[in-house]
Amino acid sequence: MSLIEFRDVWKSFGPKVIYQGLNLRIEQGEAFTILGGSGVGKSVMLKMLIGLLKADRGEILFDGQHVETMNVKDLTKLRQRVGMLFQGAALFDSLSVRENVAYGLREHLHMNEHEIDERVSWALTLVGLPGIEAMAPSDLSGGMKKRVGLARTVALKPEVLLYDEPTTGLDPINTTRINNLIVSMQRAIKITSIVVTHDMGTAFTVSSRLAMVHKGRIIESGTPDQFRHSTNPLVRNFIEGNAPEDEDMASLVARNA
Ligand SMILES: Nc1ncnc2c1ncn2[C@@H]1O[C@H](COP(=O)(O)OP(=O)(O)OP(=O)(O)O)[C@@H](O)[C@H]1O
Ligand SMILES: [Mg+2]
Repeated sequence: MSLIEFRDVWKSFGPKVIYQGLNLRIEQGEAFTILGGSGVGKSVMLKMLIGLLKADRGEILFDGQHVETMNVKDLTKLRQRVGMLFQGAALFDSLSVRENVAYGLREHLHMNEHEIDERVSWALTLVGLPGIEAMAPSDLSGGMKKRVGLARTVALKPEVLLYDEPTTGLDPINTTRINNLIVSMQRAIKITSIVVTHDMGTAFTVSSRLAMVHKGRIIESGTPDQFRHSTNPLVRNFIEGNAPEDEDMASLVARNA
C-alpha cells in the first residue's frame, strides 16, 4: 500500500477546471517532486492532501485512510502527521523566533515549557540555526526566515513534509542550503517529502521521483534520470526552461489535452 494516493481526483473552482483525473501514488520515505507551470494546481494538490481544500470527486488516501471523508478530529491528527511549509509562509513579526517555532507545539501538543524549549532548540539545530531563539524575525535574512519557517513545521515531528516552493526568491547559496536540508531531513528523520518547485536544480537534487502536472493530470512521472530523458516536448521545455512560440505551445497543448 502506498503512503499517499490520489485516485481519479477532480477539482474545479467555478468554471475553472483544475484537476480532471489526477492519479498519483507516493511511497513512504520518498522525496517526491511536483513540477508544473504557474497556476496548474500544485498548491491545490497539497492542500487537498491535508484536507484544506475538498476534491469534487475521487479519493485521496493517506496511510489507507480516506482524507475526503475525515471529520475535524481526524483532520487535526492528519495535519500532525503531515506538516506543510506553505508557499510564501511568513513568520509572526511580533513574536520571537522561539515563539514562532513553538507556535504549532502550543496549538497541537500538550507540552510543558521545558519540553517546548527542548523541541524548539532541536528544530533550530536541525535547520542549521542553533541558538537564535531570542532573535526577532525582522533581524533575519530571507534565507534564515525560510529555515525558521521550516523549523516551525519540523518541530511537530511530522512523518511527511510538504514543501511548497521552498527555494523561490532565495539566492543560489540559500537554495543549496535548503536543498541540503531537505535531503538531510530525509535521511536524519526518515521523513517522506513532497516538494513543489520551479527550480530544476532543486528538483533533480532532492528527488527520488518526480511528476509533472499539466491540464489537470500528471503527464509524466519517473526518476530524475527518466525525466532527463523524457521525449514529451512539454516536459523537455519545462526542464530546459524554453518558452516555445505560441503556435508551438498551442499544438503541444492540443496533443496533450
Ligand atoms: N481557494 C481558491 N478559490 C478559488 N480559486 C482558487 C483557490 N485556490 C486556488 N485557486 C485557483 O486554482 C488555480 C491553481 O492554483 P494553485 O495555487 O494550485 O497553482 P500553483 O500550481 O500552485 O501555481 P504557482 O506555481 O504559481 O504557485 C489558480 O488559478 C488559482 O487561482
Ligand atoms: Mg503554488
